[in-house]
Amino acid sequence: MANDDRLKKVIAHAKEYGFVFPSSEIYDGLAAAYDYGPYGVELKNNIKQYWWKSMVQYHENIVGLDAAIFMHPSTWKASGHVDAFNDPMIDNKDSKKRYRADVLVEDYLLKIEEKNKKDIAKAAKRFGADFDQAQFEATNPRILKRKEEMENIKTRLYGALEEGRLDDVRQLIIDLGIACPVSGSKNWTEVRQFNLMFSTQLGSTSDGASKIYLRPETAQGIFVNFLNVQKTARMKIPFGIAQIGKAFRNEIVARQFIFRMREFEQMEMQFFVRPGEDRKWFDYWKEERMKWHLALGIPASEYRFHEHEKLAHYANAAFDIEFNFPMGFKELEGIHSRTDFDLKSHQELSGKKLQYHDPELGKSYVPYVIETSIGLDRTFLAILSYAYQEEKLEGGSERTVLKIPPFLAPVKIAVLPLVKKDGLAEKAHSVLEDLKTDYNCFYEEKDSIGKRYRRQDAIGTPYCITIDHDTMQDNRVTIRERDSMKQERIPISQIREYVKERLHF
Ligand code: GAP
Repeated sequence: MANDDRLKKVIAHAKEYGFVFPSSEIYDGLAAAYDYGPYGVELKNNIKQYWWKSMVQYHENIVGLDAAIFMHPSTWKASGHVDAFNDPMIDNKDSKKRYRADVLVEDYLLKIEEKNKKDIAKAAKRFGADFDQAQFEATNPRILKRKEEMENIKTRLYGALEEGRLDDVRQLIIDLGIACPVSGSKNWTEVRQFNLMFSTQLGSTSDGASKIYLRPETAQGIFVNFLNVQKTARMKIPFGIAQIGKAFRNEIVARQFIFRMREFEQMEMQFFVRPGEDRKWFDYWKEERMKWHLALGIPASEYRFHEHEKLAHYANAAFDIEFNFPMGFKELEGIHSRTDFDLKSHQELSGKKLQYHDPELGKSYVPYVIETSIGLDRTFLAILSYAYQEEKLEGGSERTVLKIPPFLAPVKIAVLPLVKKDGLAEKAHSVLEDLKTDYNCFYEEKDSIGKRYRRQDAIGTPYCITIDHDTMQDNRVTIRERDSMKQERIPISQIREYVKERLHF
């Protein structure tokens, strides 16, 4: 299935089966805002729980926090977001479309890289088993020329961005002959910086009102509470503070479904360490977070690390974990070494000490911070899009199935009496009553059993339990597994044990 088709199909399926709806759809929707439906909210909650358990419950030295979305405006001055949380934007005068200037150049770089990849693949085919890729890359003149060209472009782009030379960024776009993907023209405006924070007024709109921002990241709530948490939870460095919550960004180019939204949810953890130990912990969390993703059972080939060349204003090292979304490899999570930038800035602007007294070292210092920051909505999209499968079955029929990892599935068990009469519905209800205290279950007695199985496949329910006439005699049910569609007959008394073994993460 072509990638574009796949994304379209996932979006349509998410809507049809109650996972994700466009926001305020009856008014034709609101760009880049989405609502999570009955199955979407279950999947989202299960992802949150998986993250929270892995980070907080399984680590003795990580505790949680739920800070307010509104924060004192000075927070965003200290964090650098007022001055530096900008995207360089450029408009095409013909299509009236707006683009991130740096992304236009980065897309151009990707095209050059693709050419190199094609040449490497061709050579590998030609030379067969004798092919030495490293040597080929180091000696092939065409590859070397392209690599040099890419380096020159990067130096120009990142140098200009770093020093705020926006006219040079525009000139680079013109020199490279980059055209608008919509109009095909090279008729570009100036490049301008847009701050991504949403602002509003606190209090009445009279003179006393002050401008505040909707938080663009949850992290700052953790930084300003660093000492509150450290003291009250009696934490010793190294320790972490985890938080899940909404963040808001006035993304200029918001697109690709729930991948880039203006209101989204983050799951962030700030890990406070001794100065000088930041690199060690950065490497540790980079690996740990990748393990968390792989534990979902999605193959490693769907993930990759990407090292940042242009660092955010607060970081001295940063890696993304990218996922192979239907639109290609894109950022899913960021692991950032944020130094002591945030705590120091808050200390300076607030005049309040944000230091930790290290009893082992016998001195006080401002800790360094390693951050892991993952988008909940992007994780949702990664899981949903990978899970979406269209299968041809024996006998020529087809099914659409969501192969969501069972422990994350919105509905874990569907209880289905074959028919309503002859006491089957009552029996099915007694099975349901027993299971629903521990699992999110679904009960349905309408339509043929085949149709009911298909509907459960479409929302990713891992187990369907069917109660038939034999059940009334032998107290056994048929349990059907979503992916293999295999059916087993087991005693009602063993259902709990059966599903418990298989729904554990
Ligand atoms: N505190 C660090 C921080 O916010 P980031 O790389 O800007 O870093 C972290 O964001 C994660 O939040 C990203 O990896 C992504 O998963 C998610 N994210 C960022 N912007 C988003 C948006 N507009 N829509 C959905 N998710 C977004």
